[in-house]
Amino acid sequence: MMKKIFLLLVVLAITLSSRAWDYDILVSTPNTSLLFAANKGGDLRFAYYGDRITPGQINQIHDAWVGLNRPAYPAFGMDCTRSYAIQVVHPDGNMTLNLVVEGVEETKSENATVTSITMKDKVYPFTVKMNCKAYQNSDVIEIWTGIFHTEKKAVTLKRFDSACLPIRRGDVWISHLHGTWLAESSLTAEPLTPGMKVIHNTDGIRNGQLDHAELMFSLDGKPRENEGRVIGAALCWSGNYKLRVDTQDNHSHMLFAGMNEEASEYKLEPKTTFTTPKLAITYTNEGLSGASRNYHRWARNGQIHGGNVPRDILLNSWEGVYFDINEEVMDQMMQDIADMGGELFVMDDGWFGDKYPRNNDHSSLGDWVVNRRKLPNGIEGLITTAKKHGIKFGIWIEPESTNTVSELYDKHPDWVIRVPNREPRYGRGGTQLLLDLSNPQVQDFVFSVVDDLMTRYPEIAYMKWDANLSLLNYGSSYLPKDKQSHLYIEYHRGLEKAVQRIREKYPNLVMQACGGGGGRVNYGAMQGFDEFWVSDNTDAMQRIFMQWGTSYFFPPIAMAQHVSASPNHQTGKIVPIKFRFDVAMTGRLGMEIQPNTMNEQEKQFARKAIATYKEIRPVIQFGDLYRLISPFDKKEVASLMYITPEKDRAVFFAYKLDHYMNQLIPPFRMAGLKEDRFYRIKELNVPEGEKPCQLHDKIVSGKILMNVGLEIPLGKEYASRIFELNLVR
Ligand code: GLA
Repeated sequence: MMKKIFLLLVVLAITLSSRAWDYDILVSTPNTSLLFAANKGGDLRFAYYGDRITPGQINQIHDAWVGLNRPAYPAFGMDCTRSYAIQVVHPDGNMTLNLVVEGVEETKSENATVTSITMKDKVYPFTVKMNCKAYQNSDVIEIWTGIFHTEKKAVTLKRFDSACLPIRRGDVWISHLHGTWLAESSLTAEPLTPGMKVIHNTDGIRNGQLDHAELMFSLDGKPRENEGRVIGAALCWSGNYKLRVDTQDNHSHMLFAGMNEEASEYKLEPKTTFTTPKLAITYTNEGLSGASRNYHRWARNGQIHGGNVPRDILLNSWEGVYFDINEEVMDQMMQDIADMGGELFVMDDGWFGDKYPRNNDHSSLGDWVVNRRKLPNGIEGLITTAKKHGIKFGIWIEPESTNTVSELYDKHPDWVIRVPNREPRYGRGGTQLLLDLSNPQVQDFVFSVVDDLMTRYPEIAYMKWDANLSLLNYGSSYLPKDKQSHLYIEYHRGLEKAVQRIREKYPNLVMQACGGGGGRVNYGAMQGFDEFWVSDNTDAMQRIFMQWGTSYFFPPIAMAQHVSASPNHQTGKIVPIKFRFDVAMTGRLGMEIQPNTMNEQEKQFARKAIATYKEIRPVIQFGDLYRLISPFDKKEVASLMYITPEKDRAVFFAYKLDHYMNQLIPPFRMAGLKEDRFYRIKELNVPEGEKPCQLHDKIVSGKILMNVGLEIPLGKEYASRIFELNLVR
């Protein structure tokens, strides 16, 4: 990394300007700019976030008074009438901060520039360094702070947000995700009104299942997918979080985002830095889909692991056989997925435990040794079988937990999270407890779960890392008595350390983050993971909604989408194989089914669909997503498409969500194509014995496709169509 440090990067405002500042701090990505301003001895002010401006245009922002001139990182104390980003108690009992700008540094690397603004208290030796990392290969800026002091004793941090972002009032709406187990990532869009909107998480372990730590602000009224100015904000923290949007006056909405401070006051010792998680913000004038594309590009360029590596098509054993793992059935499943063209087999829960075999969810977490009664030839035997079938092999683990019925718990009862003098509350199976990841010994253990497996079986290509328990029993046997309130934070710092070590040693291992479904869908958790499990609900109809919501912030390459059995195990719905594939093919395609329950016709369809997916994989996994008709808009249809950056190839999906006579089906208008060029339409996934629809092989201009749209025949219940578009002239 080329590192260049400029001390005090200050664009001096032209003195003639009516609103000159001593410092103007401009942070820019290729298409966006963030502007702060400050006067000597004054606090940091936020001035602007939007389309890219040049240094020469800074004064126009100030002069035209579009500059917001709001506090950029308000601290509690001197102006205590407003919401604040930071609040502390000094050792002498003083509860205030008065932070003024002291200096600005800039560090450049290949793909980003980090601008660090140092703010110091006027009286106390207390510093906040705000960092803004502006990517040059995507329009995302990450903001985080480092809090540091040299006071005589620990300073208590009561609030410690990552960032504050003022947004000019107008007809501003927010879009955010809300859900529950089996129904994750449901989209809510609502106008911002006076008062405070709080989105938060208190699970302790998994923070993506209920509310999400990401938001989009549509600045021009009701959110639209492909038009309008949008600001996105995603907090990259796997633990409890809190996002607050405070609308106290007519001027602006103030977004505060950070770790959740509830039950988490933090005693910061002198000369140690408390680093907040990153808040990743983006701006676009291409609507919600535009903001998503910015996040997807940023994610593939380093915010998810292996973001540039094509993902394998897999079969996972869970819904096929649940805990009933044995050698014969694993062999049969591997053979079947290989026959259908799959590339990887993942053995889910149920393979481990020696003294206490894992036959259900009551026991064995922590005992990561193969159950030789079920698998006499061990993992090595399974790897040999996978090789025989020409596919890769993967495995399930849940390393952060144990059961009271396990050899691990017999040996280390002191490693679990529990409250002294109280009978614990147990989780899944009535015996599950969490390991205390604030404890470095436990971090070593969690690292060793992966390390031991990889050392013994280096050919394991994939691991599904599950987390099925919330943080119950708030108490750490590792943290000292006066720092028990650090547990929510230190757990996740410990987890990050363990995952980072794994990543350093095993960069090519593909890891899935699963949190009993979508519980780990968050950029804090995703740093070390290649993909995530969207939901334990694999019903194709409900998946259209969940995948739609998830795609607001997370790229399709990371979204594990599996074709499962019909009737579906969660909803009991009977869904045709085509619809199941057409829905799963918009992300990282997989299957989660006992293939020997599929009839020959279904297997034949699967074979062809998998071959087709291999063809379109680069467009889906690396292309630009344009969401078109939202399932949440209740139009009874939904559609979306993926386009290569060159715009020479696209894949379009349309689904019917309801079916009755005399139904109004709208024309399907596309987006993102080249207006003056022509595309040939090819229908994909046409079932055996059926003909492609009349649009197949037609050549249509980008203009017609986008402005007029296609009349797509969707005659039946569970109707869907996939079209590939190829530029012809
Ligand atoms: C969780 C996961 C499932 C499966 C089971 C195994 O519920 O979300 O996909 O792995 O655990 O016990």
